[in-house]
Amino acid sequence: AYEKIWLAFAIVLILLLLGSVTYGAVGPGVAMVADSEGQIDATALDEDERFAEPRVEQVGENHYAAYVVAYQFGFEPDPIVVPANSRVTLHVTSRDVIHGFEVVGTNANTMVVPGEVSEITVEVGEPQEYGLLCNEYCGAGHHAMEGKLHVV
Ligand code: CUA
Repeated sequence: AYEKIWLAFAIVLILLLLGSVTYGAVGPGVAMVADSEGQIDATALDEDERFAEPRVEQVGENHYAAYVVAYQFGFEPDPIVVPANSRVTLHVTSRDVIHGFEVVGTNANTMVVPGEVSEITVEVGEPQEYGLLCNEYCGAGHHAMEGKLHVV
């Protein structure tokens, strides 16, 4: 009988733990990356249909979603190409370590954490080229980690 009680206790503890992890990670603008089993695993990005093929897709009349993967040392896709005068929601994750994602010259700037998806929405105007930078130290190539956002 005691074993059953301890088992039940352990299960409750595990559920509480899982619950707090999920609660802590799913805040505004942050979602989890999940593989086909629903586990959080940044190395399983290929199984997450949003990031298996980093890309830009139209999601509304004038609204585009960009799925971007940061890695040592760059961003994919590169360049990110979006139509002028539109709203673009960037979903950015990492396949290795913590990176930054900054659209140079704008206030779009976020940390990119493996296993999480950072989300920023920007309004783009006339055709222009923006640089992308990583502003979290991520290894030997950090200073050279950059990309492009092309508004066309
Ligand atoms: Cu990526 Cu610094």
